[in-house]
Amino acid sequence: MQDDLDRILIHETTILSRLDNLAAQIVKDYKDRELTVIAVLNGSLMFMADLLRRIPLPLTLDCLSVASYHGGTETSGEVIFKQVALPDVVDRHILILDDILDSGHTLAAICEKLQTANPRSIRVCVLLSKKKRRAREVDADYVGFEIEDEFVVGYGLDFREQYRNLPYIGVLRKDLIPEA
Ligand code: IMP
Ligand code: MG
Repeated sequence: MQDDLDRILIHETTILSRLDNLAAQIVKDYKDRELTVIAVLNGSLMFMADLLRRIPLPLTLDCLSVASYHGGTETSGEVIFKQVALPDVVDRHILILDDILDSGHTLAAICEKLQTANPRSIRVCVLLSKKKRRAREVDADYVGFEIEDEFVVGYGLDFREQYRNLPYIGVLRKDLIPEA
């Protein structure tokens, strides 16, 4: 798998030490609130597992599964929710966890959808945020790392469902990505 990378972008130790800071910030902000974490699968799996173990607060956890890609590297704009029922979030403070903020389509659609379930508040936490103009404006309240507009894999992030199990984040070789 490592041969398919142009380079390693963020080492495992760097990710984990950044999660210490993110978790500390979240603990400070949510210590007197009823926290419901909603993780967006599959990309946020590693991030969720490592982050939540650093948050010693009472919380409930739900997962959402969405599809916005069709095998390439560009989001289609159409976001499909894979489950019928939304988690029960009435009057709860929601923290959405996702792997990466790219065009913004996915998180904008998720925030809109969850808003219809009448939560008390919604905040967004992403491991990565690409520095680029977004198709949809989404404000991430907590960001692990700002990265350039390159296609990255590992630590949960995939290309065609591969590479999620790499323990670090790397830039995928451009010759492996078909021209759009
Ligand atoms: P958005 O809707 O364009 O913001 O894209 C969000 C989703 O696209 C993320 O949750 C990822 O699943 C996927 N994605 C966007 N950029 C990357 C990347 O560089 N590597 C892997 N997946 C990505
Ligand atoms: Mg993906």
